[in-house]
Amino acid sequence: MAKTSIRALSKTLSQMSQRHASSISSQTRLGMLRQVTKLIRDLAEPADLMAMHRESMLELVTIRSLISMNVFRSLPDQGSISSQDLSKSVGAEESLISRLLRMAVASQLINQLPDKTFTHTKYSRGYAAELGNGVAFKVLYDESFMPLSRLHLWLKEKGLKEPNRQETSPALWLDGSEGKLFFDMLQQDPVRLADFQKCMRVVGDYSLPPSQYYDFGALMDESDRPVLVDIGGGQGQTLVDVLSKCPHIPPDRVVLQDLPAVVATAKRSSLLPADTPIMDYNYNTLQPVQGAKAYLMRRILHSWSDEFCVKILKTNIIPAMAPDSVLLISDYIVPDPVSPDDIGPVSSALAMMALAGKERTLEDFHRVLGEAGLKVTGVFKPADEHFGVVEAKLRDAAEDGAPAASATLRAKL
Ligand SMILES: C[S@@+](CC[C@H](N)C(=O)[O-])C[C@H]1O[C@@H](n2cnc3c(N)ncnc32)[C@H](O)[C@@H]1O
Repeated sequence: MAKTSIRALSKTLSQMSQRHASSISSQTRLGMLRQVTKLIRDLAEPADLMAMHRESMLELVTIRSLISMNVFRSLPDQGSISSQDLSKSVGAEESLISRLLRMAVASQLINQLPDKTFTHTKYSRGYAAELGNGVAFKVLYDESFMPLSRLHLWLKEKGLKEPNRQETSPALWLDGSEGKLFFDMLQQDPVRLADFQKCMRVVGDYSLPPSQYYDFGALMDESDRPVLVDIGGGQGQTLVDVLSKCPHIPPDRVVLQDLPAVVATAKRSSLLPADTPIMDYNYNTLQPVQGAKAYLMRRILHSWSDEFCVKILKTNIIPAMAPDSVLLISDYIVPDPVSPDDIGPVSSALAMMALAGKERTLEDFHRVLGEAGLKVTGVFKPADEHFGVVEAKLRDAAEDGAPAASATLRAKL
């Protein structure tokens, strides 16, 4: 990078950073972070990059170990704590805790005071929160990063091909659970399953809820059939948002479906209104709610290979759809070609490889939905976001010219 552009960039960044933190929108902040990353990449020599990667690898190991020992949660909310007291509080050898804490301090995750005691930073508070980055980090590390850190060994054993068979995915292979499906494996471990659900709520909060760019209110009609069935909807986080944005949709006309263990926690959590039906439903079986106006699959198809998605849709979902029903797929829409600004969807696409799943380009969605017998009738996405809603109808119905569920907020793609 030329000296002048480095100077211009650092001037812009310093002007931006002098503004009050709360006056910077998350979009501007993320833009600044991307600029800084570009600057680092332009400045770093290959050996510097190697050193930074080494530090990053060890930073990840440090965070995961501190989460597992409950260290972030044992830091006092106010004031500081010594490594002796921390080691007593978490029941771990002091020399172990001290070495990990040193790395955490050097990585600016925890502060150390001149008296050698430790205090929180904004990051360690994030890792300590009950429904925060700690549980998200743990799940992403264990379910995705750990299997993918051994991808080269998986490829050596299975051959140099994209993982596309769910039963032999890198995640199941590492777990010694080949032959099962990933979510069946999770269901057998209540703690792992509960953490996975929490992680989905946390990472869901990082992306705009679909109600911000898809007009769910327009799905409402005068009949008494279900307006929206959220298939694999977890704790009901998306439906809660839809109901709050669209108060004219009665809560008993939306349906939450998920696997039994998840449904049990959703019922206990009372996140949804009491009259919203919450049903056990496995999408590997026939959809029991027939003729709903819309079926939503948010962050579902990305867990599966193209072949498996076609099978689920064709065999189990499409038979339940009425001619005017819409299927809403809400996932990342991977840009093609990509640029460094697309690191979010691109890294998620790679993360899903652990499950033999994938994030898809628009072309991929057209192909997969087309093979299942559907036709894309709309794509909804804010221009500066990568997450979107792909709306599809039964192919014959779409070709008969029936209007799409929502004509507003359509993104130009
Ligand atoms: C990645 S989470 C997405 C949750 C929610 N849709 C969201 O976007 O926040 C995947 C969800 O699918 C559910 N799931 C997995 N396999 C399923 C199956 N065979 N039938 C129904 N739900 C399933 C999981 O329990 C989990 O809640």
